[in-house]
Amino acid sequence: MNNADTAVEELKRQSEITSQLQDILYLRAGNKQPKAFVHTYGCQQNVADSEKIKGMLEKAGCAFTEVKEEADIIIFNTCAVREHAEDRVFGNVGALKALKKKKPSLLIALCGCMMEQEHIAEKIYKSFPYVGLVFGTHVIHKFPELLYNAVTGGKRLVERGYDDGKIYEGMPLRRDGSFKGWLSIMYGCDNFCTYCIVPHVRGRERSRRPEVVLSEARNMVRAGFKDITLLGQNVNSYGKWIDEKTDFASLLADVADIDGDFWVRFMTSHPKDASRRLIDTMASNPKICNHLHLPFQSGSDRVLNKMNRRYTREKYLEIANYAKSRIPDLSLTSDVIVGFPGETYEEFCETLDLIREVRFTSLFTFIYSPRVGTPAAKFDDPVPHEEKAKWMGELLRVQEEIAAQRCAGMVGKKYRVLVEEQARDGVLNSRTQNNIVVEIQAPSELIGTFQDVEITEARNWILRGKLTEK
Ligand code: SAH
Ligand code: SF4
Ligand code: F3S
Repeated sequence: MNNADTAVEELKRQSEITSQLQDILYLRAGNKQPKAFVHTYGCQQNVADSEKIKGMLEKAGCAFTEVKEEADIIIFNTCAVREHAEDRVFGNVGALKALKKKKPSLLIALCGCMMEQEHIAEKIYKSFPYVGLVFGTHVIHKFPELLYNAVTGGKRLVERGYDDGKIYEGMPLRRDGSFKGWLSIMYGCDNFCTYCIVPHVRGRERSRRPEVVLSEARNMVRAGFKDITLLGQNVNSYGKWIDEKTDFASLLADVADIDGDFWVRFMTSHPKDASRRLIDTMASNPKICNHLHLPFQSGSDRVLNKMNRRYTREKYLEIANYAKSRIPDLSLTSDVIVGFPGETYEEFCETLDLIREVRFTSLFTFIYSPRVGTPAAKFDDPVPHEEKAKWMGELLRVQEEIAAQRCAGMVGKKYRVLVEEQARDGVLNSRTQNNIVVEIQAPSELIGTFQDVEITEARNWILRGKLTEK
């Protein structure tokens, strides 16, 4: 049997266990429909995994609740990318102790990236005896079986598995949204940036087959999705291990060719693999959003080298400038790390310079956080945290000014937006194709539809607009 066949067999087995789970969970909930509370930390990759977990729970007869006290099953899908993310999980798991005491039948399960680190799984096992199930990212397809064993076995269960290189297509899925959704095109990461835990907890890079991605995209469009984000840690290396010749630019163009009124965007692009062909594809297709998330991490070549990013400042600027020149109204966004081990103030100033030069729409900014098992955690890190926090303050001030100027420049212009959610009474948040949020006064029935707006006001980086005639 090949890999795909064994994956199909395995999922069939899981589906049979799911059927058995229905009665077991129903009885356990006191002869009523069981309720699950699923909370997701971290990136869209985890959001997409949680949608699978919810899909499996739904098939096992569960309803969902936002209130922990009502839940029969509580699941935290965790993120390991920075210490702060982990601390929040520890704090929130600690707070569940009282709930478990009140309701002994409550099953508390932890999964996701944190659980793939041995020292964390051990700490959880020792410090939180009321956690009944711990499982890692590599065994998510076995969730029905794990749940079955956890509720029938009478003992705590830790299952971390290993990266078997397989892609389990066809797992049940319960999407959170009805018009804005995520579509994973690949899993894992092979880049091993020296600060990053992701390749250690998510395994090796593997791409889904293009026909599977396209079929899922078609289904989403048919179901009314208006904004589809293609997801991967480095979408630009999509297809590397697939036999036929395929690459991300082709996949993106094929998704955009699907009949229907929708937008497609993607994240994340690694600058080392971002090609001119990708930019040209974006430029030539109106359904592909004019938004490029291209993390640069640092503006200093020495630091980039220590980070193992495999591009230089010059190479980054070259592709960013090419994108700006080819795509009018392009929104460039990025991730930055401040205070990488050994970074000097002068090197940090090179990051500031790069921000001033590129003029990003927005930035995700992080103070370096050492991760056990990564090379950078062993590098000398002489700059104290307070100093790094000061640098961060300086960076935020620079970016805020750029964002405010950009917003002011948008006043009076017209944009097509997707209306997304209620911001407050009578005010809705909408988003332009290039990922800029505009507040509009409109009835909530417009949520999930495309509208045309004119920007009427910019307050720092908050934009207000009004609906215009189509
Ligand atoms: N695959 C994506 C990033 C995924 S992690 C890429 O390569 O661009 C999201 C962001 O978290 C990274 O871009 C980086 O800026 C930040 N990050 C990752 N590890 C970190 C660490 N140890 N400390 C601080 N920030 C980190
Ligand atoms: Fe982490 Fe680098 Fe992979 Fe992004 S590309 S997930 S930063 S190792
Ligand atoms: Fe994402 Fe955090 Fe895992 S950023 S891949 S959920 S470590």
